Amino acid sequence: MSSNQSRAMKLADYQAPGFSVSDIYLEFDLQDEQTRVTAISQVQRVDSAIRDLELDGKKLILEGLWINGTQTEVSLTEQGIRLTEVPDQFELRIETLIDPVNNHALEGLYKSGGAFCTQCEAQGFRRITYFLDRPDVMARYRVKVIADKQDCPYLLANGNLIDSGDAEQGRHWALWEDPFPKPCYLFALVAGDFDKLEDQFTTHSGRQVELQLFVDKGNVSRGQHALDSLKKAMAWDEQKYGLEYDLDIYMIVAVDFFNMGAMENKGLNIFNSKYVLADAASATDQDYFNIESVIAHEYFHNWTGNRVTCRDWFQLSLKEGLTVFRDQQFSADMASAAIVRINQVRVMREHQFAEDSGPMAHPIRPAEVMEMNNFYSVTVYDKGAEVIRMLHTLLGEQGFRKGMDCYISRHDGQAVTCDDFVQAMEDANQRDLSLFRGWYSQSGTPVISVDCEWDESTQQLRLDLTQKTPPTADQAEKQPLHIPVAIEVVPVSGQGEGRSEVLSLTGQQQRFTFENISAEPAVALLTGFSAPVKVDYQSTPGHQLAVILYASDPVARWDACQQLVSDAIFTIAQNDARTVPDFPIELFAGLLEQAQTEPALIAEMLELPSFETLAQQRDRIDVDALLGARKQLKTLLAEKFSAQWQRLFIQLSNPQYDYQQQQVERRRLSGVCLSYLACTEASLDILRQAYKHSDNMTDTLAVLKACQAENLPLFDELMQDFEQRWHDDPLVMDKWFALHAGRQHPGCLSTLQLLMSHGRYSINNPNRVRSVMGTFAFYNTEGFHRRDGSGYRFLTDYLLELDAVNPQVAARLITPMIQYAKLDENRQQKIRLQLLRLFEHKSLSRDLYEKVQKAL
Ligand code: ARG
Ligand code: ZN
Repeated sequence: MSSNQSRAMKLADYQAPGFSVSDIYLEFDLQDEQTRVTAISQVQRVDSAIRDLELDGKKLILEGLWINGTQTEVSLTEQGIRLTEVPDQFELRIETLIDPVNNHALEGLYKSGGAFCTQCEAQGFRRITYFLDRPDVMARYRVKVIADKQDCPYLLANGNLIDSGDAEQGRHWALWEDPFPKPCYLFALVAGDFDKLEDQFTTHSGRQVELQLFVDKGNVSRGQHALDSLKKAMAWDEQKYGLEYDLDIYMIVAVDFFNMGAMENKGLNIFNSKYVLADAASATDQDYFNIESVIAHEYFHNWTGNRVTCRDWFQLSLKEGLTVFRDQQFSADMASAAIVRINQVRVMREHQFAEDSGPMAHPIRPAEVMEMNNFYSVTVYDKGAEVIRMLHTLLGEQGFRKGMDCYISRHDGQAVTCDDFVQAMEDANQRDLSLFRGWYSQSGTPVISVDCEWDESTQQLRLDLTQKTPPTADQAEKQPLHIPVAIEVVPVSGQGEGRSEVLSLTGQQQRFTFENISAEPAVALLTGFSAPVKVDYQSTPGHQLAVILYASDPVARWDACQQLVSDAIFTIAQNDARTVPDFPIELFAGLLEQAQTEPALIAEMLELPSFETLAQQRDRIDVDALLGARKQLKTLLAEKFSAQWQRLFIQLSNPQYDYQQQQVERRRLSGVCLSYLACTEASLDILRQAYKHSDNMTDTLAVLKACQAENLPLFDELMQDFEQRWHDDPLVMDKWFALHAGRQHPGCLSTLQLLMSHGRYSINNPNRVRSVMGTFAFYNTEGFHRRDGSGYRFLTDYLLELDAVNPQVAARLITPMIQYAKLDENRQQKIRLQLLRLFEHKSLSRDLYEKVQKAL
């Protein structure tokens, strides 16, 4: 175990800080390799028992430290420095040197392209200066930024610009002040040259807010959608939650080098340019959607995250789960609620369930953390949002709003816990949520088993529900939870009324009885995906068909459809069957007939369940058989309905591109048609024409994806053309790289090698790394899971190299390799071999170490 790999921190060990910092003045003298940071803090002792002040620091050169003006010696600790026997109240001045240009971990202060920028969440501020780098220390910030005037015409930090001027040697400076006390993880600084888009927003109470969006030179025309999204988000939060923006200026900066999606720094959001830039030619409908949702997410953090923040990092879901829930509500209002929800369900089933059954399983409020960056997880974010959604379901729209009002007014300006949030919900609604709190402390995916009987003579429908959460890597014992199980009962015949209800499952086993069910009912369980659970219910194809046809809940209809198709795929896989069950064929015939009436929903229904979704339905999977069966069904459906796919595809062509709901839905369905068409002989011409005549990236990418999935020779031809057209455009080239990396074919490892020696590849750019290695590891199932283990070895070789550059990104990419429990013994063994190689590596980062050690 190397020095990187320290022990885990425990939630149970939380201690309030011994000191507070009321104000801090920061001065940055920006230079590529040697930036001088001067920090002057006003420090107060709050716990008289704590005599020494310990400050966090990482990769800093300490130039000097003064207490009330007197230079003072410090002792080094594992985490940073210790100042012994400090006064009760004092001014602390610290000078440090840092090296932004060689900071490829992209935490703290670094350079992205030509611009200086920062990323401080979770613990990046300690790479800027020695400080109490924890969210429950909140200070008022004044920040002076000094840089070369030509290289960095824009000098930005949080809050309001209060002064600026010229300095010697062609330099200039700006002074910013943020009136709201904040934790250091919300600190931000940007200095560089940009194009700027400007707009204004008038708040509900009539205040004018300046909106500024900074993008790379030449990208102004791609910024409008982001700016429009911001205004929509600001209006929505006022209308939905009564929450108004609080500063006079709101800035967003797009940078190309960024570890995550975006960051909600107070008044100065920093974004991965992928979630800012869009125009019809270069961005897909999905990109437009993502931009709107991430812009909203970061904006919503201003209240849920910034004004009310987290006491400690175990509480991360307090702000992330809640803010994801809020951005999901917003997206549902902006686009199609049903489709938005279906895609969230996919994320849960494909990624969160996998995490929750693997070695990194953790509750949405983790109890133990080694490296915090590893907990910006689908569990904390997406399951966290599902937990908030269940509260919303249990309390109702109005009850939830009352709880939010209570939470915000009670805790404005504080750093609080998940318990404080639930308490506010309880108090505002006079409800007992003690059982519900289990969702915060228990990991794993509950399975609800259903036993269902309808008695024609008594007209009663009886449902026996049993909940059981299988043990997880982090927790052997599980308790029953409070689970809202939404159900819909529809008559199998389609004649007569259906019924919808939310059942409150609170015990391990519970019986529910419905009276006056006069005709044979089909039951849809977990409508709207009312809880992050699995349902074990043997329904019949006939009943599933009734749900698809007659249920009012679109998620339930889609779900029943997916279940029917999944069952067929498993049947094919198990029997190695040449014959395919009839029901998917009948189903598809019906869906294709109605496709025009609800294009978006039917597109989702026609899409076969992904490999990952299928994998989550079994304890053990046979990778090859499953891939083969899925492929077999796809080809069969493609050929059986080739005329229909073709006809529909032609009917769906749109006029000129616009990101507008109706068009988006038609394009989605047309993309699905193309994916089937590509499996048929007669498709080459259609694909070629579609590529040639496309006026937008959505349609273009649909063609390329269809060719890629079917390994058509046309793929290489079109990809060459595509590269020629877009080689100078980083975001579009990410798509090009991803298409190549995701292609499942015998030579895929040599393809990867070629991609990584491509002139546009760089291990320093996370977007590029993700588009190649991320796509390979997560989505190139055939290539990654090659029987001989060469896919695992390939990823491991790369991780060893990447870990030294950017551990955060390396630790994300290892995910598919630690979730191996469902694989056959041969593959498991090959994976463990590679994990051992990592484990034995001397200078493995804490990020990778935590995951590898758990996986072994
Ligand atoms: N708070 C950001 C968001 O969800 C995520 C930043 C996480 N960054 C990190 N390095 N872990 O909006
Ligand atoms: Zn967030």
